[in-house]
Amino acid sequence: MTPDLMEEGAQRIAKVHGPVPGQTESGGRAADFGRHATPGEVDVTHGRILYLEDVCVSFDGFNAINKLSLDIAPGELRCIIGPNGAGKTTMMDIITGKTRPDSGTVFFGSTIDLLRHKEADIAQLGIGRKFQKPTVFEQLTVFENLELALKTNKGVRQSMLFRLDSAQSDRLAEVLETIHLADSVSRMAGNLSHGQKQWLEIGMLLMQDPKLLLLDEPVAGMTDEETARTAELFLTLKGKHSLMVVEHDMSFIRTISEIVTVLCDGSVLAQGTLDEVQGDERVIEVYLGR
Ligand SMILES: Nc1ncnc2c1ncn2[C@@H]1O[C@H](COP(=O)(O)OP(=O)(O)OP(=O)(O)O)[C@@H](O)[C@H]1O
Ligand SMILES: [Mg+2]
Repeated sequence: MTPDLMEEGAQRIAKVHGPVPGQTESGGRAADFGRHATPGEVDVTHGRILYLEDVCVSFDGFNAINKLSLDIAPGELRCIIGPNGAGKTTMMDIITGKTRPDSGTVFFGSTIDLLRHKEADIAQLGIGRKFQKPTVFEQLTVFENLELALKTNKGVRQSMLFRLDSAQSDRLAEVLETIHLADSVSRMAGNLSHGQKQWLEIGMLLMQDPKLLLLDEPVAGMTDEETARTAELFLTLKGKHSLMVVEHDMSFIRTISEIVTVLCDGSVLAQGTLDEVQGDERVIEVYLGR
């Protein structure tokens, strides 16, 4: 085929179907490295779902994050530990767009430059974040809370007209099973135990089917039994989602961890299995020294 015929064909196809996603009007690949950001699509061909390099943040001259470099593989469950003030929460603030770093690189997959996106966009791109305190709607039932999680970013009119389609109903039923709340679907969220509220909030994140879940101290305040069930839950989620879990509870970390990253003074101090990092002199020193 001659170039002019190819061009004509591309224009005809574009006229009928609109441009192919990721292609220009003429059929060429869009030159958008670092900007391609279709919700639900993350390019992990390079084996990383999250990639941070040389990230720095200072607050009034104090280096909270200091040349932090870290990457996470698709489907991985990565545990992050470190003393108070190490920068763990700040790192999550950076990934989710709440805090802008002074310098460095933060990529979601190999093409989405997270530093070009706002906090709300980042959630839409497939990064769900769970803060320490549960933030469920106490006056609504478990079902309504999960249903509401599908309505985010819809206008008031759209939200009022919103009805679950069959795929969404199936998803909701699946999430209820996953978070062990299938028997509590009609209960008011306010009447749930602390652990159940935490699971419900995780369920609300799961309704959006995030690629990456960031969980900051998820078992703080839970009973031993709730902690054990949360460990089971995270092991079920691993593989289907990538997880970054920050925790101080070492027995919980021992149950769920493969690779553990130790943060200290805003950068990676050590990384390996829990036994490896716990045997590392530098890690022992920072934990005992405080
Ligand atoms: N917005 C801010 N303004 C000023 N300093 C801040 C801000 N956010 C964090 N910091 C400081 O940055 C450092 C890292 O805090 P961060 O909350 O990330 O630690 P962390 O590892 O999550 O600790 P913890 O285990 O106690 O939750 C701390 O010294 C904290 O006081
Ligand atoms: Mg913290």
